[in-house]
Amino acid sequence: MGLPGAGWEYPERLSLACLPTPLVELQRLGESLGTGQRVWVKRDDLTGCAISGNKVRKLEFTLADAIRQGADTIITCGGVQSNHCRATAVLGAQLGLKVHLILRGMPEELAIPSGNVLLDLLCGATVELHPPQEYTRRFRSLAKSAMAAAKADGRKPYWITTGASDGVGVWGYVRACDELQQDFARHGIEAPHIVCASGSGGTQAGLVAGNVLHGLGAVISGINVCDDEAYFLKKIRSDLLAWKQQYELPFPVEEWDVRVIDGYVGEGYAKASEELLALLVDMARMEGLVLDPVYTGKAFYGLLNEIARGRFADTRDIVFIHTGGIFGWQPFASRLAAVLHG
Ligand SMILES: Cc1ncc(COP(=O)(O)O)c(C=O)c1O
Repeated sequence: MGLPGAGWEYPERLSLACLPTPLVELQRLGESLGTGQRVWVKRDDLTGCAISGNKVRKLEFTLADAIRQGADTIITCGGVQSNHCRATAVLGAQLGLKVHLILRGMPEELAIPSGNVLLDLLCGATVELHPPQEYTRRFRSLAKSAMAAAKADGRKPYWITTGASDGVGVWGYVRACDELQQDFARHGIEAPHIVCASGSGGTQAGLVAGNVLHGLGAVISGINVCDDEAYFLKKIRSDLLAWKQQYELPFPVEEWDVRVIDGYVGEGYAKASEELLALLVDMARMEGLVLDPVYTGKAFYGLLNEIARGRFADTRDIVFIHTGGIFGWQPFASRLAAVLHG
């Protein structure tokens, strides 16, 4: 459903996620804040079991595009604990597509596979692992070689960029805003702040676009879990521009409001402080809300800090997008034990 006469329609999509996901209020947390505001969570961790999280919303469009192009093989990339790679591996098996993953990580991280990469292997994805420096330095040639090897094998490979954050992937969260529009009408939510974790930018780009296309009247902020504000402003703007150009859309995307809240990366991507882990324990116990140490936990930590600083004080409602990540807990098991047992 687009806005009537507004000059756009959704491209082809595969129905892969369990949708719509619920929007739930965190009442006890809201009361404890003492600001009188309501805090909501869009439970996109419930898009599916093994496919849990935000990536499947993008992949519904990306994999439809791959199949439309006649692909029989998907090649993509990410960290060894990439949620995007795991969702792609599961969905590839579901759709009868071969999946090959170019992963960034150290050999010891694969010695006893756990978390996301365990599911990658379980679902039959083939993986190649490269230490971080080599991965960054040789990224283009690794991608090129994997595509060439698949072609030499007589296959038709389709490349998906990091996190499926590109012009096609933007549609995933445009469509999520269709759901949010209905959620907001049901709960009497007007002009809220919407906050998400930003890792490759596509979720936020989709929310920025969907906010306009579905007339949510929200303010969208991404909390970056890697890199910095300048990087994400550029990345999100470039995803929006790619989306506009690819689908010949008549929107002034250059003028759309993109906000990144920097300052919560901590020691680095996928590194979690004791304070962060302790907050995740508190949230799990207070609300049964399981956030992850790499993405949603850092963003939620940032959200609570920014509420305390008054950044969102101009609205009654704050909506956090729970983008999943539960399998990312496994590598943190011993750190969690230390937090729990002192
Ligand atoms: C659990 C989770 N949340 C949030 C994100 C961020 O989404 P995006 O890559 O679209 O910025 C990712 C991936 O990067 C993720 O795996």
